[in-house]
Amino acid sequence: TSMSVQSLAIFWCKDKHLRVMKKFCFIMTTLLIAATAAVAQKTIRVSTDNTDLIMQVNNNGRLYMVYLGDKLLNASDADRLDWTIDTGSDASVSKRGHEAYMCSGGEDFFEPALGLTHADGNKTTYLYYKDSQTKAVDGGNETVITLADNKYDVEVRLHYVAYTKQNVIKAWSEITNKEKGDISLWKYASAILYFSSQKYFLTNYHGDWAREAQPAVQQLTYGKKVIDTKLGTRAAMHTQPFFELGLDAPAAENSGRVMLGTIAWTGNFRCIFEVDNVGGLRVIPGINPYASDYKLKPGKTFVTPEFIFTLSNQGTGLASRNLHDWARQYQLKDGTGDRMTLLNNWESTAFDFNQESLAALMKDAKNLGVDMFLLDDGWFANKYPRNDDKAGLGDWEPNHFKLPGGVKALTEAADEAGVKFGIWIEPEMVNPKSELFEKHPDWVIMQPGREPYYYRNQLVLDLANPKVQDYVFSVVDNILKENPGVAYFKWDCNSPITNIYSPYLRQNQGNLYVDYVRGLYNVLHRIAAKYPHVPMMLCSGGGARCDYEALKYFTEFWCSDNTDPFERIYIQWSMSKFFPVKAMASHVTEWNKNTSMKFRLDVASMCKLGFDIDMASLSQTDYKLCQQAVANYDRLKPVILDGDMFKLVSPYEGNHAAVNYVTKDKKSAVVFAYDLHPRYKEPVLNLKLQGLDPTLTYNVNEINLADGQEGLSGSFTGDYLMKIGLPLFSPVDGSSRVLELTAM
Ligand code: DGJ
Repeated sequence: TSMSVQSLAIFWCKDKHLRVMKKFCFIMTTLLIAATAAVAQKTIRVSTDNTDLIMQVNNNGRLYMVYLGDKLLNASDADRLDWTIDTGSDASVSKRGHEAYMCSGGEDFFEPALGLTHADGNKTTYLYYKDSQTKAVDGGNETVITLADNKYDVEVRLHYVAYTKQNVIKAWSEITNKEKGDISLWKYASAILYFSSQKYFLTNYHGDWAREAQPAVQQLTYGKKVIDTKLGTRAAMHTQPFFELGLDAPAAENSGRVMLGTIAWTGNFRCIFEVDNVGGLRVIPGINPYASDYKLKPGKTFVTPEFIFTLSNQGTGLASRNLHDWARQYQLKDGTGDRMTLLNNWESTAFDFNQESLAALMKDAKNLGVDMFLLDDGWFANKYPRNDDKAGLGDWEPNHFKLPGGVKALTEAADEAGVKFGIWIEPEMVNPKSELFEKHPDWVIMQPGREPYYYRNQLVLDLANPKVQDYVFSVVDNILKENPGVAYFKWDCNSPITNIYSPYLRQNQGNLYVDYVRGLYNVLHRIAAKYPHVPMMLCSGGGARCDYEALKYFTEFWCSDNTDPFERIYIQWSMSKFFPVKAMASHVTEWNKNTSMKFRLDVASMCKLGFDIDMASLSQTDYKLCQQAVANYDRLKPVILDGDMFKLVSPYEGNHAAVNYVTKDKKSAVVFAYDLHPRYKEPVLNLKLQGLDPTLTYNVNEINLADGQEGLSGSFTGDYLMKIGLPLFSPVDGSSRVLELTAM
């Protein structure tokens, strides 16, 4: 419209041949264009208390992201933003902007969010704004923007949920095929975000079994950095689905602009970071479309996973605390509820146990003071007994030889001992040496006619198949139907998807990686619906599954099989940037048993405490120390699990580490301080605390001490503790201290 108004006016001006009229005409034209543009434009603002994500419909009807950053104080400023970006190109090149959901084939020459092949083979998509709505949801507001191609019947709905207080935004998309034939999706990001800073520093987290979540920091310069995984099930084994982005400077704990982001998807994910020709950064998170051209039938909608992020202008610490608060309130299963301490038997018995020895361990659990005994791998299968990891997976009947009384006798023994009973399962997997495999080889992901590749001697069940979903659901359902006394599950997943081929999907193999995860969610959803209050731990050969979608169904996850307290400090440090420690299970074991029991206890007490150790082998002193630590932990759970976490000293920056937790009312706090491997006669500084009330006076009491050991005690103002601090560090390798603070 604006163009036709302009040409009409110019034509009229030419006809008059009057200079003054020309000038008048020019002014009128400009005003008219401005007026039509203003009518055509629309500003959509997604806001939390501190962040604004602002989009604008331009005068061609396309949607652009025009701002992402600190909340604008004046609403009218949001309307003044210009959708165009300065590309530095010459004037003959049309303007371009940051399209809110950029598609393949458009005028932006960088990585798009969406790429699909239409039913007629065309690979371009242009999305135009149709409408948008914002409505209040629990904790904030949700904006849904509908876009549609003007040539093809493809519709996209962008969702943005902004959590006001916690300053968290989650974004995802829905792609609907309204064409007459199938369309094929080959890029389907959850969202695309644009940043404009001088410099960008990415911290991503990589690893492997027993060395999860190792940070790597790098400056992003022109081109792409991709973090992704192709493992399918044990998806986060080599790279975690979360990252930290420092804007202008590397991310720091207490200052600077930082974004924390994470993809809520329990499968292959990908996040692309691309710095473009004018120094802008695009962050494009979503499912990894690797080997996954997704066939979408007419009338069907593809829903991407949520991308969850938070921005902070006071460093990572604040961003983490916001994410923790948000997770406990809105995402994590039973996020505001209690957690059970436990004794697990994996490290002490492996597959070698029976009804009597387990009953004895339950008594140990009771003596120790924990809430539950957790039976690990090895309790099931008869034709091919599960006596090692080579057989039995898939056959979920108790092994008659080890457990003649079945699970029922175990829940009774737990009752008698006075503890709850939890049980390990790995229901998505099968050993070829199992009755399940013999009966249903077509339920297994496996290449027809090729030699199978085994990972831990097992294969993955085909959860794209609804019958297999029913079966996996029945594993939990049968245990609970037959044994209502089972109070907890540890859900393990030790293999990536190998030999990728679904007998069920036949011609649609491109859908497998995605439909697998959706099948898994179907199962988890059914479990949650039928058994809403049964807590579960998510485990994946250590910490290879740790994402926020799974955490809707799991009360906690296992961070790593590596429980060497030195190593754990680092793993917990990284993971707790993104997850509340309430969701992070941490056990006292014999890994690195050269360290003191106190050191091991203190490290595990920073998260959700458990034990996986032969209690009978402990000295009396250590046993007592454990009992005392459990009692202390029970008292301090509200501070540690529901308080604010302040990371005081990073293990990555020196030879010490420290964290303190403070309750929301600032009346109670707990401090954990560690000496890792200090240098000879290293000078040590006071540890300054954070997050306390400077006007309050706190009683400070050292805990988790052996009998007769003198600890630090006294009363100090919050101001003193934060400005001057306490002498908690020492030059002694592997020593630790825990302080309990109570406001007077
Ligand atoms: C891997 C887990 O990480 C361990 O804790 C244990 O459950 C084993 N699997 C059992 O096979």
